[in-house]
Formats: sequence, structure tokens, C-alpha cells
Amino acid sequence: MKQPATAAQVRQPESYPSYVSHPKLVHWVQEVARLAKPDRVYWCDGSQEEYDRLCAEMVASGMLIKLNQDKRPGCFLARSDPDDVARMEERTFVCSKDREDAGPNNNWIAPAEMRATLNSLFDGCMRGRTMYVIPYSMGPLGSHIAHIGVELTDSPYVVASMRIMTRTGRKVLDVLGRDGYFVPCVHSVGAPLAPGQKDARWPSNKEHKYIVHFPETKEIWSYGSGYGGNALLGKKCFALRIASIMAREQGWLAEHMLILGIEPPDGEKRYIAAAFPSACGKTNLAMLIPPAALKGWKVTTIGEDIAWIKPGENGRLYAINPEAGAFGVAPGTSDFTNKNCMAAVTHDTIFTNVAMTPDGDVWWEGMTKEPPKELIDWQGDAWTPGCNRKAAHPNARFTVHSGQIPSVDPDWENPDGVPISAFLFGGRRATTVPLVREAVNWEQGVYMAATMASETTAASVGQVGVVRRDPFAMLPFCGYHFGDYFQHWLKIGNALKEPPRIYGVNWFRLDGNGKFMWPGYGENMRVLKWIVERCNGRAGAVDTPLGRMPRYEDMEWQGLDGFSRANFEQLVTVERQLWREELKGHAEFFESLKARLPRALIAQREQLERAL
Ligand code: OXD
Ligand code: MN
Repeated sequence: MKQPATAAQVRQPESYPSYVSHPKLVHWVQEVARLAKPDRVYWCDGSQEEYDRLCAEMVASGMLIKLNQDKRPGCFLARSDPDDVARMEERTFVCSKDREDAGPNNNWIAPAEMRATLNSLFDGCMRGRTMYVIPYSMGPLGSHIAHIGVELTDSPYVVASMRIMTRTGRKVLDVLGRDGYFVPCVHSVGAPLAPGQKDARWPSNKEHKYIVHFPETKEIWSYGSGYGGNALLGKKCFALRIASIMAREQGWLAEHMLILGIEPPDGEKRYIAAAFPSACGKTNLAMLIPPAALKGWKVTTIGEDIAWIKPGENGRLYAINPEAGAFGVAPGTSDFTNKNCMAAVTHDTIFTNVAMTPDGDVWWEGMTKEPPKELIDWQGDAWTPGCNRKAAHPNARFTVHSGQIPSVDPDWENPDGVPISAFLFGGRRATTVPLVREAVNWEQGVYMAATMASETTAASVGQVGVVRRDPFAMLPFCGYHFGDYFQHWLKIGNALKEPPRIYGVNWFRLDGNGKFMWPGYGENMRVLKWIVERCNGRAGAVDTPLGRMPRYEDMEWQGLDGFSRANFEQLVTVERQLWREELKGHAEFFESLKARLPRALIAQREQLERAL
């Protein structure tokens, strides 16, 4: 890559800008530079000018393609290596001193062994490249719920993406001061360049990939991948895995949850946090537009992937979105499924692995009913509708700043967060699990969340279409033993004066012909309306063994033509035989966590068994 134009900011490994006043940070950067041996060290200031310059350099090097600026102003396209397209759960490790602390839900290698491996991989791994120093804040700058990280990376794509996804640069160092706490994060694509060697379009390491977390020292080391959650270390690595550990130590929650605001035409505005496994329509729910028939109801977006939630002095929970942008799945996004999102990505967006139209615009499966007659696919090859290949990779992404989302909530950057009235937990289940149910108390809610499951999708490498237990949608993201995590949830809830209500939802039940029984998308608003009205004391419900459920007359059906009372009854039936099987699944899963499973959850299971 060409030298950045402002040579004054490109430093020899040992030097640093005069505004950096944190000796420990400087020492750590120098130490990593001595190991990775980059040609240059560059301290990112986080400015627009810097972002523009890096993007221009990536266009020059072939890493980014500038899209048609009349159609998508400020937009770029990146095409990753075909082997580097998703999170890699089997290459993700939590290296606690004690194996048991990582739990059966994490891959574990002894810290000393892992450090030896990383030391050898990182030795000289940035040769021929620039090491960028990215100070970043997860959460509004200076918020008492926010935390700071510093990522060292040899990928300019990561620098540009982190500027969209988090708050980066000099202003973060101002908050950090001389001795503020930061989470150290080191990332390399693992592809050193020999003198004169031509760089790959998307450098990565085909042989070795490691995404490593050290819980005791709260460090993140990532090697070999330049993609998404493997490389943008503020997201899954910090904001979920490391933050979940910090949250347990400090008495708060770091969750894989969207946050939305719901304003009834008459009544209190409520905020809901909702956990869904990858690819269950979380982004669509976070940006939902209510159906026209629900006059006066408004939905606003605080966040679409992660929530940091802290008990307030008044005994309620307050949440922030630690991110400042969305790294969302493009395929399936359309004006029908998510009009707000489509509007957000009309400008200043980095697309990765989507298809390109001949005139330099983007396209992906599901964007339009009819595909264009010709395209250039996500790998840069000519594509036509009959060619039997996907035009966009199923895990193709857009990276966009939250401020561009039309539905963004006026309080999305409120440093004190927003009060949470309800938690929603939902997986993709073809059978068994009803449309919606309300836990009668916190413990039943925690049990619901602890036993949720989903069919796997393309957001992670692995088998697609298999049902797996995914408690709290945190299976790939909880940085410690799930048994301890459940205990932490129980403890947090028990200490609250006004705990949020807890709901289980399932938008994905199929009928005998394999068709979805629930219309989903904007119509999910009907379920949200019932929930908000429950919170506001205005909606009825009926007791069932699984919790409280709406009766047909408790929900709003106006404007949903073709959906009958019988359809509704089918969606909320509890089939006892299926539930007996389901409970066996819960028991099996609990068995794997036996050593640290809270007794309260065993009691919940037994109670449910009796009730059924
Ligand atoms: C994501 C995921 O990318 O959950 O958000 O996999
Ligand atoms: Mn996610």
C-alpha cells in the first residue's frame, strides 16, 4: 500500500504523537510493534480526512472498489478472500487459567500454550505493512456504561470499519487521559510482505486463524482473518466475550441484544431489549415500521446487535448500544423486509461480498423480486440469473453508521442509557415453541432464555439448518461458563426493584406444508404492541404451563387480512408430546453444564415437567 499522504502522522515504531499521554498505552504499542515488526506505526486520529484518505488508498491498492457515486455516494465494495467470509467459532478460544471457567461453551487452550503459539505467529507478521493504532470507545464517549479499547491492526479495512462501528481516535485518548483503563486488542491478517512483494486484494492467512481471549488479563488477540467479528475486535470479541466477563465482575450485563423504543399513541414509551441468534431478523426487528393499521404506534432504534445494561440507583435496568454502527447481513434486506435499513445504506456505506451491477451499484439475493439481467458476483466474476451460483455471499454485509438509520432514537447516544421494560428471547423454531409467552417471574424468564434454541445459518462457518441450543443467543459470545452466566442473570434480577418482564417469541413456526404460519416482519409489531400494553397494564393474558399467553382478543388484528382466529390458535398451541421431547433436550443441555448449573433452573425444569 502507498504511504499515507500526511507523513507527519506516520511514525517510526518507537515514536508517537505528542498528544498521547498514556505511558502504559505507549509502552504496549511499542512492545507489540517490536514483536510484529511492521514497517510503520500509524496512530489513527479518527477524522473524516483520515477515513477518506485510507479509503482512497484502498481503492488504489484494489482492496476497495468505489461504487457509482451518483447512485451510492460515499459507498465502497470490498471482496474478501473466499475462505474468509464469516466468524469462525471453531477457531475462537477463551484461554482462562482454569479450564472450567471457560465452560463447555468455549474452546479452551491453556494460556501459556496459547501465548507461545501467538508469539510465534505474531513474530514479524506485520512486515511490509503499517500497524494502525485505533483507540475506540464502546458506548458514547465518557458514558458511565461505556468502556475503551485500543485495537492494533495491519488492516486499513478494519480501521475504516471501526470508524463507522465505534467512536475512534483522538477524542477517545482525551477520555482515556494518562492512566485510564483500556482493553488491549491485537489483530493481524497474518500475511507479511517481503520487500517488493505485491499484496493480495484481501490479505489473510489460509493456514492459521486464531481469535483468542484471555479473561484474566482481558486481552484479545486475533490472527489470520480480516473479516467481521474476527477482525473488528470491538464487536463480538470485546463488546460480548470480554465485556460479559467484565459485566459479571462489575455487576452489569453485556448481551447479544437489539434495543428498540416503542411509543404508543397514548401511554408510556417503553424500551425493549431482544436477543435472537444470528440471522433471525434482528436487524429487521430493530428497524421495524409498524403496519399502517396500527395508527399512532412508533418504533425507534437504539441498537441492532449488542446491549450493555446496568442497574440504576432506582432499581431499574438502563441500556446503551455500545456500537455506533451496524455490520448487518445484506441478503434478504429489501424495501419490504427493512425499508429503514435500505434507506440507511444509500450513502456512506462499506459493502462486503455483495454483488455489483454493471453500472456500479449493489445487489444481493432478496433485494428485488427479479434479479438484474447481469451482475458481477461477490468474487468478481460475471453472473447471470440462470448460472446456479449466489450473486452475493449469504453472509455479505453492509457497514453503516447508526446515525444514518431513519428510525434512530433521539436517545441513541444518551450516556445514561434508556430504561428497559422488557426482554425478548427468540430463536428460529419450526415447531414446538409458541408465538409469544410471558414469564410469570424472573426465574421462569431466565429458564426460557437459558433453554432457547435455533436453527443454524450462514453468519458463522459450519453446518446450516441444524437446531442447536443457544442460551440468551450467547452461545458463541459468552466469555465464561454458561452455568455462572445463568447465575449472574438470576443475581442481577433478584436485586432489581423493577425487573423488566421477560418474553419468549418465535416468528418461525411452520405449518404442515412447510410454510411460515406467522407473517413476521412489520406484523411482529402486533406482538410488540401486546407486550407494551402488558407493561402499561392494558392487555390481558391467560396462564399456561409455559407462561402467560395472549388470547386472540388480547391482540390487535385490524389490517391483517387472511389471518384467522384458527391460525392464531395454531400458533399458540402447546403440543404436550413435543414439549416432553423438548424438555429432554433441556435436560441434556443442562447435563453438559451440571457442575455450575444454578439449582433454581433445575427447579424450573421440574416444575415445567409437572405442569405439562
Ligand atoms: C452477527 C452475528 O454478525 O450474530 O451479528 O453473527
Ligand atoms: Mn450478532
